[in-house]
This record gives sequence, C-alpha cells and structure tokens, in this order.
Amino acid sequence: MQVKDLISSRVSLAPMAGITDYVLRSLIREHSKSCLLTTEMISSEALTQVKNTDIVKRDENHSPISYQLSGHKPKMMADSAEYLQRFADMIDINMGCPVNKVVKGTDGAALMRNPDLAQEIVRTVKSQISIPLSVKFRLGYTMDELNYVEYGQKMQEAGADFITIHGRTRSQMYGGKADWKRIAELKRNVDIPVFANGDVVSIETAVQCLEESQADGVAVGRGVLGDVTLISRIEKYLNKGEYLPPPTLEQKILDMKKHLMREIEFRGEDVGIKFVRKFYPYYVNGFQGASRCRGELVMLDNLKDIISLLDSIMLANKA
Ligand SMILES: Cc1cc2nc3c(=O)[nH]c(=O)nc-3n(C[C@H](O)[C@H](O)[C@H](O)COP(=O)(O)O)c2cc1C
Repeated sequence: MQVKDLISSRVSLAPMAGITDYVLRSLIREHSKSCLLTTEMISSEALTQVKNTDIVKRDENHSPISYQLSGHKPKMMADSAEYLQRFADMIDINMGCPVNKVVKGTDGAALMRNPDLAQEIVRTVKSQISIPLSVKFRLGYTMDELNYVEYGQKMQEAGADFITIHGRTRSQMYGGKADWKRIAELKRNVDIPVFANGDVVSIETAVQCLEESQADGVAVGRGVLGDVTLISRIEKYLNKGEYLPPPTLEQKILDMKKHLMREIEFRGEDVGIKFVRKFYPYYVNGFQGASRCRGELVMLDNLKDIISLLDSIMLANKA
C-alpha cells in the first residue's frame, strides 16, 4: 500500500507507550475501519534482544497500521524495521519522545538536535525496507531551536514518505498548548503529506487544527483515552459531514468493561487488572462521586468486585 492509501481517512492514532497496545488498537478498529493505527514505540535495542514480544501483535483487520521504532543506531534501526515489515504497512521513526530516559540516549526528540544522524537513520532504514517510511517529530528541541521546517525538508530529502508533527517543543513536554499554526509553515515547505498532532480531543478541535495547520490529517493521542469512538467520529465528520456525539457515561462504562476483559485475555487476570487502572480516570468520570468510585476501583484486584462496582455505577447513573 502507498502512503496516500494508508492515510486516506485523514485521521491516525498517535503512538502512546503503555496505552496504544494491541487491545486499544483493536477497540479503535472496531469503530473505525480505515484510520491509520500506530503501535506503541518499539525500541530497536530491545527488539534485537527479544523478537517475539506481545508489542508486535496484530490482527488481520488492523491494516492500515504503522509500527513505530525508537533508537538512534542506523543499522540496528534498519534491521529492526526490516523485521517489523512482516507486520507493518508502514514504519514510523520516533523523533519526538521528550522523556529524559529516551533523549539521554540520543533517541526520540534528541534526534532533532542531530539532523545529520536523523537523515542517516532515514536513509539506512529506507534502503532496507519495501514499505513506506514516516517520521514523527516536534517543533524543535526548545523554543530557541525551532528547526521543524528545515528538519522536515531534510527528512523528506533522506527518503521519508510522511510526517506527523506534534505542535510542541521537547522542552514543553506536554505543557502549554500545541501550536497548529506553525505546522502550516512545514506543510508549505515539504511535498510529502503531513499530519498535525497535539490537543485534538474532539470533532471541533480536529476541524480547527486542520484549518490552522493546513495539514493533510490529524493524529489523535490522548483524546482516545476513555473514548474509543473519537477517531471514527472525527472521520465521519470530515469525510461525510455526519456529527456523532461523544459516548454517554453508560457507554463509557460498557467500554471500560470491554477494555478490561480484553486486557485480561491478552495479559492474564492479575496483570490485566493492574494494567487497566491507568484508564479508570478517563472512563469513570462526569458524575457525582466519580472520584470516590475511581479511588475504590484502583484498590480492587478481584475481577468480580470490579465488574460489580462498574455495574452499580452504571445503574446509579442511568437516565
Ligand atoms: C502516555 C503517552 C505515551 C506516549 N508515547 C509515545 C510514543 O511511544 N511515541 C511517540 O512518538 N509519541 C508518544 N507520545 C506522544 C503522542 O504520540 C502525541 O504526540 C502527544 O500525546 C500529543 O498528542 P495528543 O495531544 O493528541 O495526545 C506519548 C504520549 C503519551 C501521553
């Protein structure tokens, strides 16, 4: 598949480590047949040690799907990409992750300070795979180093087929507001498609982001937390003009239960129950006593008790 086919729905799921796992990707796919899914970042270093990890798992219907790689050693990245192309429709290179652990090793956003190395990575990976290659980066490392236009051009020149840009700098981490207007400058200066990312949390923000950024589409990250329908709702609006409302509390609780059961299937009961705790604040909210209920939920480690609490929340808040 070519890039234009992979991104034809104009919405992608942004990669989120510890969040966009096999289960969440599957749930999002149930609502959206054509959005571009992305895996969590997969470390090329880790992949050289262990190949058969759950992180690469996919179903037939997960296409179009991009597998994101992190790392900074061109040959190792290329070998990893070559391995991952048996699962992937596209390989994405992480050049935006801001966390200390990652940038200390010149991975993620640190590559924005080293465009020559980033180019070498793109060239080497590109020469070893036969599927499209994309890059995901930020506006720059700090506000004094806003090199995203030149950087994007360099990635294109090295062979990148597609860009996702998060409208913040590395220093901003996740603070402040994503600057969608700046993205328009990148869009004007490259020929490959660009998806804008950062703070798209609704149909309205998706529309505004597209207007300001002039991008070819939007990548949605945190907005999918507690709302597995968001991507499909944005797609329906952009492509058919159909406006669907966000899920009700009842629907969110049903989705939470489904998410929990699927994680248990995937990871086993003990790990699955612990894993989903991070999702409770996003599904279980917007009603009186929500915070107390969440407090109770995170203390529970027995599946029956969790389901019964979720059911009682649903019953108590039925319209
Ligand atoms: C918990 C978490 C994990 C993330 N992991 C990754 C990652 O593995 N790779 C990556 O490129 N970006 C990662 N990001 C950044 C997101 O892809 C996205 O760029 C950012 O959250 C801004 O978009 P949003 O406002 O739609 O969430 C992560 C973000 C969060 C909140």
